[in-house]
Amino acid sequence: MSTVNYSDKIPNNVNLSEDRTLQRALEGWQPNFVNWWDDVGPDGSTAYDVYLRTAVSVDPQGWAQFGHVKMRDYRWGIFLNPGDANREIHFGDHKGEKAWQDVPGEHRANLRRIIVTQGDTEPASVEQQRHLGLTAPSMYDLRNLYQINVEEGRHLWAMVYLLHKHFGRDGREEAEALLQRTSGDVDNPRILGAFNEKTPDWLAFFMFTYFTDRDGKFQLSALAESAFDPLARTTKFMLTEEAHHMFVGESGVSRVLARTAAVMNELKTDDAQKVRAAGAIDLGTIQRYLNFHYSVTIDLFGADQSSNAAIFYSSGLKGRYEEGKRGDDHVLKGQTYKVLEVKDGQLVEKDVPMLNALNEVLRDDFIKDSVAGVGRWNKVLEKAGIPTRLTVPHKAFNRQIGALAGIKMSPDGRVVSAVEWEAKKNEWLPTSDDFAFVASLMGRVVEPGKFAGWISPPVMGINRQPVDFEYVRFG
Ligand SMILES: [Fe+2]
Ligand SMILES: [Fe+2]
Repeated sequence: MSTVNYSDKIPNNVNLSEDRTLQRALEGWQPNFVNWWDDVGPDGSTAYDVYLRTAVSVDPQGWAQFGHVKMRDYRWGIFLNPGDANREIHFGDHKGEKAWQDVPGEHRANLRRIIVTQGDTEPASVEQQRHLGLTAPSMYDLRNLYQINVEEGRHLWAMVYLLHKHFGRDGREEAEALLQRTSGDVDNPRILGAFNEKTPDWLAFFMFTYFTDRDGKFQLSALAESAFDPLARTTKFMLTEEAHHMFVGESGVSRVLARTAAVMNELKTDDAQKVRAAGAIDLGTIQRYLNFHYSVTIDLFGADQSSNAAIFYSSGLKGRYEEGKRGDDHVLKGQTYKVLEVKDGQLVEKDVPMLNALNEVLRDDFIKDSVAGVGRWNKVLEKAGIPTRLTVPHKAFNRQIGALAGIKMSPDGRVVSAVEWEAKKNEWLPTSDDFAFVASLMGRVVEPGKFAGWISPPVMGINRQPVDFEYVRFG
């Protein structure tokens, strides 16, 4: 099962050739996918040979192979982690029963919705990032962008396979619709808010891959627990790829900070205008970008109290992050969790049934994980002797979804008046001036080993290649 069939048109380890109807259906979808890639995938990249990893196995020791390929010829395929015939459902009302190889009728609508919502984010991010190649700060970074883009494309394949195999005609219709919605489109937008925002520049890209791809990690981890075994196995493999996306974000921001700190030390200044005049990104701008991407991303976890979240858990469709490592009963009836609510203009904690608060549980797990990386960013500043620290804003800051959407909150967690919000929001969220300044730095630097002036080179290259390796051949 872990060997991948590469002689098929669609590489897979699911014995696709044994199901002719399914194979034909997916082969019918494939040209539409390639058309989508040509239309809204990476701008101007058709002729490039890119040093990409391609999944060739699901063996954790050596699942990928590296080589120069044209992205539209990338072998997007269907890979499920190895299955365990005796796997049992380990949470919710069906705990102890055998995991499902097919979709139970009563959970069909909810599972389809979960898969479509996850699937929709994958092509959305490719669309959001499609212009970034034109302003890459280095050939190394350009390659990383493209790597993420092709893997998000593969993640779409992973969800489309489930839709085609397990959801009949409506699954096929949903698979088509995944290629029809477009990020930011007024008439037919992507499903979730953050996936309709622009990714206008590379600082935004690094913040997106740090925070929003990490949302992906948490959603996929929760689905990797699912009682629907094919979903659990496919999301487990997606997580293998996802790690690199977050690495690109974390190391990208670290390298921006290293460059900014070097300029601040050279000029012995913390004056934002002087840092900008020297061609680096001032820490205030970086903090405002962080505030924006963090707050938009935590909205993705949904309303703090949700009966759907309770249903998804109790019926075994979606678990918690690291469900298997938790010491409780994995049923959660009668247990409570603290959520925030607004009372008389103030935030107060209240206990609610844990099953209804599972979006908040996942959001809080995400927050812990995010904060840890921000700590690593601060180490870069600390090492350089810069006293400023980045912080993640309060979780009620700039929220558009859930009980906290109704209030104005400062990043440090004070409820503020509408007047104060208006007066301060330019200190807290990126301004048009910030975007214009960052945009002004975005020139294309793509000679091997050369880097734009606002970012430091990485410590090492990809797959043990040197930093000045020819990661992209422009042809
Ligand atoms: Fe993804
Ligand atoms: Fe990703």
